[in-house]
Formats: sequence, structure tokens, C-alpha cells
Amino acid sequence: MERDFENDNVETLNFKSSSNDKAPAKLWVTASGKGGVGKTFVSSSLGITLSKLGHTVVIVDLDLSGANIHTVLGVNPSHMNIRHYFEGVKTLQDLVIPTQYSNLSYVQGFWDSWSPIDFTMDQIANLIPQIHALRADYVIVDLGAGALEAHLELFKAADEKFLVTSPEPTSIEKTYRFIEAFVCHSLKQDSTPDAYGNMLTTLRSHRQRTLGKPFSFRSYLKEQTGLNYDFFESLTSKPVRLIVNSCRYQNHSELGFGMKSVCNKYYDLSIDFAASIDFDNAVWQSVKGREHVLFAQPFTGLAGQFLTTCKQLIDPEELRAVV
Ligand SMILES: Nc1ncnc2c1ncn2[C@@H]1O[C@H](COP(=O)(O)OP(=O)(O)OP(=O)(O)O)[C@@H](O)[C@H]1O
Ligand SMILES: [Mg+2]
Repeated sequence: MERDFENDNVETLNFKSSSNDKAPAKLWVTASGKGGVGKTFVSSSLGITLSKLGHTVVIVDLDLSGANIHTVLGVNPSHMNIRHYFEGVKTLQDLVIPTQYSNLSYVQGFWDSWSPIDFTMDQIANLIPQIHALRADYVIVDLGAGALEAHLELFKAADEKFLVTSPEPTSIEKTYRFIEAFVCHSLKQDSTPDAYGNMLTTLRSHRQRTLGKPFSFRSYLKEQTGLNYDFFESLTSKPVRLIVNSCRYQNHSELGFGMKSVCNKYYDLSIDFAASIDFDNAVWQSVKGREHVLFAQPFTGLAGQFLTTCKQLIDPEELRAVV
């Protein structure tokens, strides 16, 4: 018999006591420059892997262009969805729905809106504390594609920022654009309008190759007044984490190293190459079968890649001991 997750009483959710002691839930955000590169697959896989490791996880579907998380988790879309939070009818916690996987819940994304949806910065600012207050160890936010302002703002607030690319040139190009947009967005908020405007002019000159050398955000920020250098500096200890998904060949798996060094050379920005994830037909086949591939085939290379990635982030010391 199919379970009616929509009508499950969220109060009956049996979260681990550690979640109720209430350290704020950690926010992991998954974004991409280009659409269709595997964000939703990555978000769901990170969520399932963390839940298998014993952590309570809520995945929040914030893809404004069309909710998908329910599909990859193999559940029917819920009538109660994030729209009810934004309309003030429900709290975010009210909307948490359990899944068939233990420790893993989700918040249904928009799927009953027929007009374009956008968030104001105020709405995002109000949402972030609600996310941290959810009764979970980790909250994973699955975004839609592209460097929209709301995406950049959530990305900035994340404890872990995952940027997913496929190995294709079109996706790689949009990944660099996303990184640039993210750095600029983050600088804009605490910089003076003049200084920020001058920086964009300088960046444009570099793009047109009139200055003959790569643009270094770091050197530029150090030389100028009126720009917020601190956030840029914090990206060294809390870097953007690149995930190269759907790798079919060895050179795909190594692409992240090249992209990391391009960011160093051209922006003077450290990013982390967090993982390369294999292409595997079982991914889409298991979506059709309504059982996530990490459950349908738990001992594949894919499952190992997500396990290593999560362990590296939540407990690097333990992983080092094993290796
Ligand atoms: N590693 C993989 N191997 C094989 N197929 C994959 C892999 N990752 C994703 N896919 C498939 O690629 C398609 C797109 O994946 P997904 O929906 O996760 O991308 P997305 O970036 O979330 O897309 P959107 O921008 O529309 O939200 C899906 O059919 C998915 O099953
Ligand atoms: Mg998606």
C-alpha cells in the first residue's frame, strides 16, 4: 500500500534527540550555472548519504522553475508546499514531510504555481533563520539553475556551498560565470556603490582583454577602498565546493583540478574540488523505478563517491585515519 506522506503528522517525526538539543541545522546549498547538470541528483544523494551516516536531514526544494526533489525521492508531490510558507500560512517546520528513508525528510517545492516566482531579498533573509531552526542536523537546499540574486544570497549564507557542473564546455563556462557573479554579489552588499561600480568597469576591461593580465580579485580588493575584502577572504576557509557530475572518462574526473587552477590563476580565488561523480544509467533508471539509486544499488562507485565526499566534510579526521 502506498503511504500518504502528505497527511503524516509531522509532530510524530521521531528525530534523534541530538537534533532536539538544537544546535542550529547546518545549511548545505546546491547550485549550478547551467540547468540539467545534476543538482537535484546531487542534493538528494548528499541527503541520503548523510542520513545513512545517522544524521537527520531535511531537503528543501527551492527550484522556482519546477520542483523535482519529490520525484527523485520517489514520493507523490505534496499539496502542502513551500508556497504555503511564503504566503504565511505555515511555518517551514510545518511543511517537513517524512520520506520512506529513515532520518530523511523534505519540504515540497512549488508545483502548483502557474506564474513566474521570484523571491525578494527580505524573503530570503527571513527564510535563512527558519532553515537553521528546522529540527535536523543538516538542511540541504536544492536550487534551480543560474546566478539569480536569490540563489546567490542563499549560496552566500550556506555552511557548505556546492556548485555542480557537467564536464561539457557549455556547463563549464556557466560555472565560471556563476562563480564571478557570486563573488560580485557578495562584494556588492558591504561595499560603496562607487567602488563596486569601478570594480565592474575594471572586470569588463579584463573581459575585453585590454589590460593584458588576469584579473586578481584579491590584489584589486587590497588596493581599493570601499570594497568588502573580508567576505572574499573567508572564501578561502569556507570555499565554493565544485562537484563535476556525470563523468564518463578519466579526463572528466580530473576536470575539477583544472577548474580549480583556473580560479586561482584568473581570480586569485581558492575553490575546492569536492568530488567527481560517475555517469551511471542506473541514476535515471532508478528515478523511473521510484527508488533512489543509492538505495537501489548501495554498493556502487557512485555511492562510494558520495560517502567519501560527505565524510570528508563532516569528519575529515576519521577519513584520514582510514586512508
Ligand atoms: N551521475 C549521473 N549519471 C546519469 N544520469 C544522471 C546523473 N546525474 C543526473 N543524471 C540525470 O540527468 C538528468 C538531470 O539531473 P537533475 O534533474 O538532477 O539536474 P538538475 O541540475 O537538478 O536540473 P534542473 O536545472 O532542471 O533542476 C536527470 O534525468 C538525472 O537522472
Ligand atoms: Mg533540479
